[in-house]
Amino acid sequence: MQAVVLKAVGGPEQLVVEEVPEPEAVEGQAIVDVRACGVNFADVLIRVGRYPQMPELPAILGSEIAGEIDGKRVMGFVRGDGGGYAERVAVERRWLFPLPESASFAEGAAFPMAFLTAWIPLTELARVGFGARVLVTAAAGAVGTAALQIVRALNGRPVAAVGSEEKLQLARSLGAVEAVTYDGLGELEPVDVVFDLVGGDVFKSSLALVKPLGSAIAVGYAGGLWEDVSPAWLVGRNIGVQGFYLGRLTTLRPDLVEQAARDVLRLWEGGVVRPVVGAEFPLAEAGDAHRLIEERKTTGKVVLIP
Ligand SMILES: NC(=O)c1ccc[n+]([C@@H]2O[C@H](COP(=O)([O-])OP(=O)(O)OC[C@H]3O[C@@H](n4cnc5c(N)ncnc54)[C@H](OP(=O)(O)O)[C@@H]3O)[C@@H](O)[C@H]2O)c1
Repeated sequence: MQAVVLKAVGGPEQLVVEEVPEPEAVEGQAIVDVRACGVNFADVLIRVGRYPQMPELPAILGSEIAGEIDGKRVMGFVRGDGGGYAERVAVERRWLFPLPESASFAEGAAFPMAFLTAWIPLTELARVGFGARVLVTAAAGAVGTAALQIVRALNGRPVAAVGSEEKLQLARSLGAVEAVTYDGLGELEPVDVVFDLVGGDVFKSSLALVKPLGSAIAVGYAGGLWEDVSPAWLVGRNIGVQGFYLGRLTTLRPDLVEQAARDVLRLWEGGVVRPVVGAEFPLAEAGDAHRLIEERKTTGKVVLIP
């Protein structure tokens, strides 16, 4: 079968389509005919060698897919070292979920990672409720567009921050009550929760906006690693900082993640949320997909179509 193989750490040209052996399912797994595969920012971090848990290379990236098993439409997580950028992949049955009838395969591949990464911390850590003002950074991206919709679904008021003017309209269309570029963060009124996907200076500026008894959740570091935050400073401000990492939670609390997947899937089936697919590329253009993500030119989820 055809797959995109990451040969070595480096530029997008390291992603090469080639013929590889068919995947083999071990106990508890099923072979899925991949119809779409989500490209995550973590895939870019792996490609450039900046991911904390690097797979052994060469490797086939891709940790979420939508596809078919004997004609049944499914979506889910490919655990372990990935393998989704391919025509077929072995997936643990536990991490496969039914694809809603009205959904395209591309939407299915855009759903699991983004919506669980938004749903679990916003419900379990920040416990967003009625009227909560929640700042979402990188709000026009894959996880960001999911987070805006989930804050709305929880009856909160999402505030969006993005890297460029062109992304403001998408954030507003998904329910943001205010939308600013990062240089406008300082002008925002305080918020109850920060849901941060950027890290670095954006995280630092966002932290200054948290109201007493509010919290900031660190989720991503696309824009740079986090500076240490001193407990003394947090005590003085009466605020909290929390962290969220879906990959490890899936290993440590699979029951919780499975239940969350069922809960957030119900929101999609009920028409309350819907994944945003920003662009689709054939497998052979995986390198172009990575390049656009790295250049911050994408919105929503970028999806590969085998
Ligand atoms: N902790 C977890 O479990 C978990 C799970 C999934 C994703 N994540 C993290 O969440 C973040 C969003 O992931 P995603 O897959 O949805 O990606 P994405 O938001 O679709 O794309 C990344 C976005 O990050 C922003 N960004 C800021 N500084 C950047 C820089 N220097 N280089 C590139 N992008 C930069 C850009 O948006 P602007 O131009 O609007 O700033 C860019 O569009 C990533 O940091 C990812 O690693 C964490």
